[in-house]
Amino acid sequence: MANEAPIPNKILLFGATGLIGEYILQALIEAKPKFEKLGIFTSPRTAKDKADAIEKLKAQGVDVVVGDVTNEDDVKQTYQDYDTIISALGRGAIPLQIPLLTLAESTPNIHTFYPSEYGTDIEYSPTTSPHEPPHQFKLKVRAHIRDNIHRLKITYLVTGPYSDLYIGKLPNAPDAGTWDIANKTATLLGTGDEKVSFTTMHDVGVLLVAALRTPTSSQVRTLKVNSFTATPHQILTEYEKQTGAKWDVSYTSLDALRAAERKAWEEGKLTATAYTLRRIWTEGGTLYEERDNGRVGEPGVETLEEQVGAAVGRERGDGKL
Ligand SMILES: NC(=O)c1ccc[n+]([C@@H]2O[C@H](COP(=O)([O-])OP(=O)(O)OC[C@H]3O[C@@H](n4cnc5c(N)ncnc54)[C@H](OP(=O)(O)O)[C@@H]3O)[C@@H](O)[C@H]2O)c1
Repeated sequence: MANEAPIPNKILLFGATGLIGEYILQALIEAKPKFEKLGIFTSPRTAKDKADAIEKLKAQGVDVVVGDVTNEDDVKQTYQDYDTIISALGRGAIPLQIPLLTLAESTPNIHTFYPSEYGTDIEYSPTTSPHEPPHQFKLKVRAHIRDNIHRLKITYLVTGPYSDLYIGKLPNAPDAGTWDIANKTATLLGTGDEKVSFTTMHDVGVLLVAALRTPTSSQVRTLKVNSFTATPHQILTEYEKQTGAKWDVSYTSLDALRAAERKAWEEGKLTATAYTLRRIWTEGGTLYEERDNGRVGEPGVETLEEQVGAAVGRERGDGKL
């Protein structure tokens, strides 16, 4: 195809030691065939605090660049050795991607950029999505790309919520949905029958590698991928099956969730983002006519049964069950 970018082969990852960055990096390391070059760009603080993990990465063949993501010279110099940038920067660092993108656009050897997305589709609803507070920084990044980035191939990997987190404990805001395996109690959102489309953190990495290996002729591509779709009641059934016991269950209705969300924002609570996202998910904001896994070769993904099995296995391992 005329406008198809070369296949990414020299990959630089920002945010590699973060929550999802670790999974993405693992999938990049395990990719077969191997990428020609794989590097991470990390802060001096992380290089010091996570020195052991960084040494292990080096032993696995990962190039480690320690620098300041806000320093143009550090970034410019690093960019010379790569053709693809993947950002897994955390929520607070999302705006830092704007200069990273501008610099990549003017670096001829870089042809591909994956901005930090890996979550809720921030343009799901033309009427409500533009006003959701947690979406604002990511929307600014997308606007910058629309207005200023015309050469780089961009992929937004939209994964919906991570099931690993959703089916776990939420101690700071249990009314926003929580699952306590040791005590066999749960708070379910909505009526318990609303479907949510999930991706496991492991599969975020798998799907990202599959996307890298699938050429695209579009300059900007959005891939809405997932591992599985499930309702809170289906998760409960799976937990009851795998723990062999009936669970005590309470519910937070959508109205109650909206009220708690408003209060959290009014009071400036850190949990406000969680309330908003979980309200969006419960309203159906993760559901699509068709998922895009097929567009990247339909890689094998995990199931709800496996996710619950892993969560129950961890509790058993910790002696809590
Ligand atoms: N779908 C979901 O359920 C879900 C859940 C959580 C996150 N996400 C999404 O996943 C993406 C990554 O989030 P995360 O939670 O994995 O990230 P994170 O762990 O909070 O941070 C990732 C890395 O970003 C760098 N970083 C963080 N804050 C920074 C700052 N203020 N300035 C400079 N660098 C900073 C750090 O890397 P270094 O120190 O190595 O440079 C950090 O390890 C985001 O887009 C987020 O919205 C989705």
